[in-house]
Amino acid sequence: MLKGGKVGLRARYEEDIPILRTELYDDVVNSSRSEGQPWRPIPPSARDSRLTADDDDRSRVPFSVVELDGGTLIGTATLWGIDTHNRYAHLGLGLLPSARGKGYGTDVVAVLCYYGFVVRSLHRLQIETLADNAAMLGSAERNGFVREGVLRSSAWVMGEFLDEVLLGLLARDWKPGPAVRPTAL
Ligand SMILES: CC(C)(COP(=O)(O)OP(=O)(O)OC[C@H]1O[C@@H](n2cnc3c(N)ncnc32)[C@H](O)[C@@H]1OP(=O)(O)O)[C@@H](O)C(=O)NCCC(=O)NCCS
Repeated sequence: MLKGGKVGLRARYEEDIPILRTELYDDVVNSSRSEGQPWRPIPPSARDSRLTADDDDRSRVPFSVVELDGGTLIGTATLWGIDTHNRYAHLGLGLLPSARGKGYGTDVVAVLCYYGFVVRSLHRLQIETLADNAAMLGSAERNGFVREGVLRSSAWVMGEFLDEVLLGLLARDWKPGPAVRPTAL
């Protein structure tokens, strides 16, 4: 388990799956805005990569996010597209609606940076998000990510093309927060 100031990142448990399906992935608008692909329902029996962790896929590390205080599940965090030659990866996160706007997202990004830079020895981390996603932009920029460009009309979202922002952070520019630490469960 990796701990930040408010959140813990741990493995995906079986009991997380129905909560994530109902509260995150059944939400058509949120899924369409977050996933870069058309929403489709996930049948209860499906071993869908958004929900289950495929341990054989070394390019993707999915975490479940829990509140440190009490251990309640509050969302997902993923290091994906891990490229061990160029030593970069992408960050992805999604919090349950009740957990948004409380500073958890900023903390999750801090812990993913620790995992990417310290545990995985990566050199660069990047985030792509819709240009109107103020909470994601804020979570990234609080952790030192800088806007590197706008991908104009790059995302088809619920009937319209929207701009995406590309943000990057290099290991040499990263200032680790004192709160992030690895720990045994
Ligand atoms: C994006 C997300 C992970 C951010 O996490 P969060 O916990 O809500 O964000 P935080 O509370 O840490 O806030 C981060 C910053 O954004 C600001 N912010 C938060 N919600 C906001 C909102 N709705 N509108 C404007 N600003 C907002 C905060 O004030 C904070 O800014 P500050 O550091 O200057 O104070 C979360 O909102 C979420 O899961 N959203 C739905 C899924 C999603 O969009 N995922 C990202 C796909 S790329």
